[in-house]
Amino acid sequence: MKNKIEILKDKIQKAHLGGGQARIDSQHKKGKLTARERIHFLMDEGSFEEIGMLVTHRSTDFGMENEKYLGDGVITGYGMVNGRLTYVFSQDFTVFGGSLSETHAEKICKIMEMAMKNGAPIIGLNDSGGARIQEGVVSLGGYADIFYRNVQASGVIPQLSAIMGPCAGGAVYSPAITDFILMVENTSYMFVTGPNVVKTVTHEEVSSEELGGASTHATKSGVTHFACANEIEAINQLKKILSYVPQNCEDSAPALPYEVGNEERTSLNEILPSNANQPYDIREVITQVADEDSFFEVHAAFAENIVVGFARLAGRSIGVVANQPAYLAGVLDNNASVKAARFVRFCDCFNIPLLVFEDVPGFLPGTDQEWNGIINNGAKLLYAFSEATVPRITVITRKAYGGAYDVMNSKHIGADMNYAWPSAEIAVMGAKGAAEIIFKKEISAAENPEEKWLEKEKLYSDIFANPYRAAERGFVDEVIEPAKTRAKLIKAFKMLENKVVNMPRKKHGNIPL
Ligand code: COA
Repeated sequence: MKNKIEILKDKIQKAHLGGGQARIDSQHKKGKLTARERIHFLMDEGSFEEIGMLVTHRSTDFGMENEKYLGDGVITGYGMVNGRLTYVFSQDFTVFGGSLSETHAEKICKIMEMAMKNGAPIIGLNDSGGARIQEGVVSLGGYADIFYRNVQASGVIPQLSAIMGPCAGGAVYSPAITDFILMVENTSYMFVTGPNVVKTVTHEEVSSEELGGASTHATKSGVTHFACANEIEAINQLKKILSYVPQNCEDSAPALPYEVGNEERTSLNEILPSNANQPYDIREVITQVADEDSFFEVHAAFAENIVVGFARLAGRSIGVVANQPAYLAGVLDNNASVKAARFVRFCDCFNIPLLVFEDVPGFLPGTDQEWNGIINNGAKLLYAFSEATVPRITVITRKAYGGAYDVMNSKHIGADMNYAWPSAEIAVMGAKGAAEIIFKKEISAAENPEEKWLEKEKLYSDIFANPYRAAERGFVDEVIEPAKTRAKLIKAFKMLENKVVNMPRKKHGNIPL
């Protein structure tokens, strides 16, 4: 028996060495952790249990039968993240560049299925040279097997992807289907085709970092939700996301203990500038309304005209969507609409109530917007809010103009409670533009058109640049002093705790993609 135990120990030791010490050193030299080190930092001490450590590939082409590594380039298993069950796969770049073989894919699929069956989140730590070139189509099949399971798991369990090295070609589509992507600055990249292919096809000269690095995807494409300075930061962000979300779609988000006390926040009365065209940072409103230090912004560097993120209100997890007047006046455009729609859908999948702060002058005009589908993209946000069955509350801080008023979680599309601050202006458009259109003849016939325009602007503004017309109709449930916002929201979300919505029976809706 002793000998047999030695054999086992030897195998475990070999598996722990992955592709060998030289390749581990090379990984470290690139500023990267190994697959096992990443798991070590992610999981609670001593909680990780590995599954499939002794799996090897089955390939016999190109002499591959002579080159086998235990685990075959991916470490899979389960453990605890802050005391909660979590599944993980971590690709090992030291074994064939973390490339995906048939068996590597089987290991990932196995862990995904376990995560689904047992209702716990799955985290993918990606660091891979793509399909195992020596295996050809079986490796491509392996990717498709993973994609298929990603889709099955979507909306059932939270799926998070951290990109900690290369992620190219077909490999990008698994992270793309998952709920959140995190990338590491300078050591990770994602693209469908790399710089060499780009050069051949389009003659563009571009580096990997510029084409698909963390900053590019955090700001230009929006593919990644987080660009992290290093791997440890990425791992900490993964843990932070999990702290706001439930284990699965049947579960509720974790709540921290909270004693309701004096919830007035008088500073909120001072946040809005006296001139309605002056910007202010909506994050200040969010942070003062939410529990202290609880606001956790997602997708911060992309489409900054809308802010999305998690927060806590009286200890309970909420999703926040807010127009950002400090960026492009908080206008809705293609990117902002898609960013917010995806976040709304995530929250709805996982029973996270939604809080909306609205200060929106409308949709952004222009050929760029129209030709890039603002009609469809704006409709995505409208659709996402309309189908969301979680508790939904809107606070109109200032502008709520035009179609954007409807879209931003209005009462008409199913919001449960809508509050407005006295500074709210709920109208078809701003008073200046409105006066120009409806009093066009009078203005141009006037002796002093400029003066007439101002007079008509004031008239329109007196009638509509306030929350009271909407309140008279019940489109706004209550006009509130900003200082009372937090207290009102705590009570209202509590009141909505057991909300039940029965949607019409259907296979699935057809969101305008
Ligand atoms: N299949 C099989 N082995 C692969 C591989 C793949 N897709 N990608 C990398 N490897 C192996 C390399 O042969 C090398 O093996 P070695 O340690 O025995 O020398 C090891 O992984 C590390 O790769 P290397 O090229 O030395 O690392 P790098 O950091 O310089 O470059 C990549 C990383 C990913 C840019 C580069 O390996 C690459 O271009 N790989 C192919 C990507 C691809 O086209 N994939 C298929 C399409 S999805």
